[in-house]
Order: sequence, then structure tokens, then C-alpha cells
Amino acid sequence: MTAAASTDIKIIGKDEQLGYTAYQFGSFKFRRDEYFAHVEWPGGVRIIEIDRFLRALVRDIGWQFFYGWIFFDDIFGTQNHYGTVDIFGGTYDSGHKAAKTDFIETFPTDKVVTAFDTIARDWISEGYDPLRAPQETGSPLGRKAEPRKDALVRGFTPAKRMLGLPGDVTPRSDQSGHPVNRAFADLEFDKPEVHAEPGFEGQLNAINLFDHIARSDVTWNPSVASVTQASIFCVTSEEHMLPVIHGNDRNEWFIQLTDEIHWQVQDKNTGNPRGRIIMKSGDVCAMPADIRHQGFAPKRSMLLVAENGTPGLDELYAKGKLPPYPIEY
Ligand code: PHB
Ligand code: FE
Repeated sequence: MTAAASTDIKIIGKDEQLGYTAYQFGSFKFRRDEYFAHVEWPGGVRIIEIDRFLRALVRDIGWQFFYGWIFFDDIFGTQNHYGTVDIFGGTYDSGHKAAKTDFIETFPTDKVVTAFDTIARDWISEGYDPLRAPQETGSPLGRKAEPRKDALVRGFTPAKRMLGLPGDVTPRSDQSGHPVNRAFADLEFDKPEVHAEPGFEGQLNAINLFDHIARSDVTWNPSVASVTQASIFCVTSEEHMLPVIHGNDRNEWFIQLTDEIHWQVQDKNTGNPRGRIIMKSGDVCAMPADIRHQGFAPKRSMLLVAENGTPGLDELYAKGKLPPYPIEY
């Protein structure tokens, strides 16, 4: 692993016909054309379909590199070290390793945010929102048009304790500009009744979580609904495919709240197939700490992702001090 010599993003060219800027960040070079992103590193190059690249890019920024690995495709991606971030090409692919065309470089986190944000701003035009489901936004293909004026990464203010508590984040509503998504038009959204025992008045909180998720205008973008010490509940509405492959550095739990998601599970280091899971409404599963996974939702569905935010947990798994799965049968 090398630390990048220069950690500021540089302009290295501009496609005058299409209008897009090409950049260098550390040893990586990035350019786009009408259909593809081209990523180059010393000894290797990767071409990634532009919609896929941009959907991964804005999520990686918005999630602050998430837990562990974010693969933009099977080959290129980032690893979060919570303070620094690796950018890699081919490092977790046996073919690239064998051919010695793999490369990895480490950067301060804030520099990667600035670099990725610079690329995203230049390569995304008005009318295309990579956080939305493909059927609910325009296309990123073709030459550069008007730049987008609004925020690329939407303010997913995480709940401090729980959505709806006084002083905490308010659940989505018509008033907040979040109508119920077309896919959930058949659901009923009763408001919960709260009856506190004498002495506990004002201390109980309940919301209709389905109502909140049904109003999400983005997909595959978990937002924090509650935090109890290191136990973080993230909820999200899922349609089409998770535009990244997530490599875990700890266990994470999925609770399928509605409809269905198909997960492809691979070995984290080699990408070799490990399994396939079809989760239907009510199913619960744990993703182990030594895999990468990608979800496919044929219809918009609701998912709860439970994360363990304990600091240093990644190290315990990396050093083999904890088994990669949560339960021994
Ligand atoms: C995951 O990688 O676990 C993940 C990411 C985004 C989602 C759901 C799950 O929307
Ligand atoms: Fe995951």
C-alpha cells in the first residue's frame, strides 16, 4: 500500500466536444465520455458504465465511505479506515493480483470527499439524479448539459436517538415535501397510539416507520432512524440494484420489511461466489464480516439495515479475534 504523493485533485484535460473535465487524484486518473467512466492506475485501467459509476460515486461520498469496502464494480473501489480511505483497482480480484495489475493508494478522508465531489459535480448534469430509482430520473448519457444546482448528496440528517422525538429528526411527510412513493400507494399508514403508564408520560415515542420509508425519494440510501449506543438502525427503500458491492468489515443485519430483495454474496478478497439469498417480507439475515454483497430489488421494497458502530470492531474481525459470522449453531 502506498500513501499518495499528492492528495489534491488536479485537472489534467477537458473533452472540448463533450464538455467533461478529466482529473488526476494521487496516481488515479478519471475521465468520462458519453457512455463510460475510464479509471486508470499505474499498470491498470477499468471502464465502468457511467450510470453505475455515478450512482456509486455519490453514495460513497454521502455514506462517508460506509463500513469497510465499497466496490463500484468487481474491480474498482474504496476501503474506509475511519480517518483515511484506500482507493484500489484490482486489489480484491484474483485475476488482477495474478497479473500484477492491482494498485492501492491511501488518502486522508476529507481529500477523497473533495476529489469525488469535484468529479461528481462536473460529470452530473441537470435532470439526472443518481440517488433516485432509474425509472424516476433522467439519463446521464451523452454530452454535458446544464450543471445541477441542488445538492448532489441529500441531507440525510441521522436521528440522534430516534426519529420523531422532541428535538430529533422529524419523519418524512407531505409537509416536508415527501409524498408516498407510487410503489407504496396501497399501504395504510395508521398513526400509532401511545398510552404511557402513569409516571412515564412524555417519555414514550412511536412513529409509523413504514410511512417514513414509503416517502423516501431515493433508493439504496440508508438513513439512520434510531441509535441505541452502538446499535444503529438504518432504513431505506430499494428499487433496481444496489449500485455498489458492499464488502463488510463487520457483521450487518438485514430485516426485509416488505416485498423482496435478491442478494449475491461473494468472497470479499477474491470475488468468488459464496451464496445467494432471496429475502421476502419478514425475513432476517446476517451478512458475515468476510464477504461482499449486492442486492437486487425487482420492485421497490423496504429494508432495515442494522449496523454495529462499535469503534475498533473492524480490527477485531480483520485480526480474526471474532468469527466472521454472528451465531454459532
Ligand atoms: C449494504 O451494503 O448493506 C446496503 C447498502 C445500501 C442499502 C442497503 C444495504 O440501501
Ligand atoms: Fe452491506
